[in-house]
Amino acid sequence: MNKPFEMKQASLFQIEKEPAAKPATSSPSLQRERLPRLDKYPEVRERLLPYCRLRPGEVWEDPIRGHRVGVLDATNGEHVNRLVRDTRIALAINDPPYNIKVGNANTPHLSKQNLEAYLDFSRKWVTHVVNVLAEHAHFYVWIGADYRDGFQPFPDFMILMRDWHPILKSRNLITVRNQRGYGTQKNWMWVRQELLHYVKGNPPFQVVYTDIPKILRGYYKVVNGKITENMERSKSDTIRPGNVWVDIQQVFYRMEENVPGCYAQKPLKAIRRILETSSREGDVVLDLFAHSGATLLAGEMLHRRVFTADIDPVFAEITIRRLEHFRQTGKTGWQWRNPFPEMEG
Ligand SMILES: C[S@@+](CC[C@H](N)C(=O)[O-])C[C@H]1O[C@@H](n2cnc3c(N)ncnc32)[C@H](O)[C@@H]1O
Repeated sequence: MNKPFEMKQASLFQIEKEPAAKPATSSPSLQRERLPRLDKYPEVRERLLPYCRLRPGEVWEDPIRGHRVGVLDATNGEHVNRLVRDTRIALAINDPPYNIKVGNANTPHLSKQNLEAYLDFSRKWVTHVVNVLAEHAHFYVWIGADYRDGFQPFPDFMILMRDWHPILKSRNLITVRNQRGYGTQKNWMWVRQELLHYVKGNPPFQVVYTDIPKILRGYYKVVNGKITENMERSKSDTIRPGNVWVDIQQVFYRMEENVPGCYAQKPLKAIRRILETSSREGDVVLDLFAHSGATLLAGEMLHRRVFTADIDPVFAEITIRRLEHFRQTGKTGWQWRNPFPEMEG
């Protein structure tokens, strides 16, 4: 494969990558990605299968830090137990397909199905995740809304989650603002993405801060008989993220963390924020929808063990390679380069 592939299509809702720049030039930073979106090019995905070390049902065990990566189906309880065994999970980060057609692609693992089928799929994987949570645990799920289809599955999924009440209690609804969006001429640009937060028991929560400076003064409060202003009361000169995150750059091909081939990669900054607030060093984190392996890499960086899986052997392989690549080079992704250099000959 000597020629770079065509640009990525922008998706409607999933945090997605900016299309690569036009023609390849002598400047490496302007190169196109060496692997196309794998949902749009099934023939390329087929060519990658021989390079995948795991077959469906298999689990790779990391000899260094004890992470695990499987080619497993999140809706299969026996598969989830094969990954988790007797360990109990302190933090589950779930990023399932959103049931929204992404770009022009409609692949078996990212297709749009009828709502009942999607909720049935959701009910299954949520059950299996809840079954392996520790007594005190955090549970996050990324989800989208299709404005062309009654905003499904967002409200339906929230209502479905009440089935686990009071084991899982709703804790927060976070909105992440994307920089790029869809529909600016005839509609408000769709730049949002939802992250639901539930807890089991009473797990610890560690406050974190963004890099955004505090700029507003004048919130006065009397402390010990003295009128104080918010700047002097605060522990940090930057703001806390709150439940609207506006400081997360979407992954695109110029970023080091970019993983060519992946079409729904979450930014490491978002995953690190979840790990830092909602888990401690040494905890085990579960992510059954690995894709580019963002949770595994964030866990490696922050000294959490991660058990992760994807139904597609290619994404499980990319996930393992991303960890190995990071350990060898210190790099968080491949930018525009190919995670499978062997296919280029
Ligand atoms: C939205 S992506 C996850 C993105 C990931 N958080 C990241 O940052 O790269 C969803 C992934 O779920 C996988 N998937 C779809 N159905 C699955 C299932 N039943 N079990 C496990 N993985 C599944 C897809 O192959 C896809 O890679």
